[in-house]
Amino acid sequence: MSHTEWWASESFWRKTAIWVTAGSFVALIFLTFDTMSQITAGTKRVPTYSVINKRIDYVFDKQRNFQVPVIGVEEPLFGKRLTEEEAEALVSHGKLTTQAKNCMNCHTLLGNGAYYAPDLTKSWLDPMWGSPAVREQLMVEFLMNPQDKLHNITGRKMPNLGITEEEARATVAFLKWMSSIDTNGFPNNFKPIKQEN
Ligand code: HEC
Repeated sequence: MSHTEWWASESFWRKTAIWVTAGSFVALIFLTFDTMSQITAGTKRVPTYSVINKRIDYVFDKQRNFQVPVIGVEEPLFGKRLTEEEAEALVSHGKLTTQAKNCMNCHTLLGNGAYYAPDLTKSWLDPMWGSPAVREQLMVEFLMNPQDKLHNITGRKMPNLGITEEEARATVAFLKWMSSIDTNGFPNNFKPIKQEN
């Protein structure tokens, strides 16, 4: 008579498979809720959309040992203070523009996307824009006519994607809001544009 060890029996493995699947399912539900609370606007790491009314900086935090976004004084985008609803509508329009024009085909946003062009997470704070006084206008002009304005050292040019002025302004709002997200120090060692104290 053949004797099967308990660990080799079919019923043991069937039960194990059921328990592992059920356990993973519960863990995934927990992680989904845990993640939602960390990626939703208006939570600890992700400011509400009206943050585009404020100055945003990126400074080294000694305790956490990496750079973190710091939200500062009143500094409305395009000089116009927006309500929470107006800011949300503008940022959403910008986000939809980046999706419609498939910016991720070349760029990364929060680290996701392609590595042909620079990461856009902190592009709002890029010293390439010269000074904060002209940045907003330069970004709008760049997005509408990027092929004329090579400013990085890779020699790669961004093509003209037929972005309207309205879409460009909304995209700048989206990029400003994105720069305020606490990304655990990503991108690392980024030197932000110099802003007055
Ligand atoms: C076909 C590839 C491609 C696509 C698609 C693309 N870009 Fe670019 N983008 C580039 C390249 C290359 C550069 C660097 C050009 C330069 O420095 O002049 C660049 C530069 C930029 C910069 C300047 C970054 C900085 O910090 O200096 C911004 C902002 C930008 N792109 C935004 C966008 C947005 C928003 C979209 C989508 C609407 C987009 N790009 C789609 C290739 C692309």
